[in-house]
Amino acid sequence: MAKRNIVKNGDEILHKKCRDVTVFDDKLWTLLDDMYETMKDASGVGLAAPQVGILRRVVVIETDENIGKIELVNPTVVSMKGKQHEVEGCLSVPDLWGYVKRPAKVKVKAQDRYGNNIEVEGEKLLAIALCHEIDHLSGVLFTDIADEVMTTEEYDKRKKS
Ligand code: CO
Repeated sequence: MAKRNIVKNGDEILHKKCRDVTVFDDKLWTLLDDMYETMKDASGVGLAAPQVGILRRVVVIETDENIGKIELVNPTVVSMKGKQHEVEGCLSVPDLWGYVKRPAKVKVKAQDRYGNNIEVEGEKLLAIALCHEIDHLSGVLFTDIADEVMTTEEYDKRKKS
């Protein structure tokens, strides 16, 4: 495994659409392993392939150690329920935070690293992470859809008041 560089906001690759994965080989497994290591090293809870410069539909998420690592290849949201409105950040958008409207629960269809069909359901933070990471695959950042974007300083002030 190797840590990869995280692409930062301003790089146009983050606004490009990713292609489906069609080959489930060791190159994909290395990408998934590297993305997980990169995410953990940066203390993130999710990472999408374009954030390491790869325009493929690949996502890793770990919002909770009890749920553990989630690897999603070619994920799509198939159903949504309810609403939540929480503050999000992104490893590619350091020092900005924003309120985003998301479903309270989502169901996602995807493939695992071997190409098997899988389904993942999530609520609360996991629902946010699933939506946020899948948005990355369409070139959408949370700052594109947030109602309000704040700097870290503004967000800290908000938390105190
Ligand atoms: Co992000």
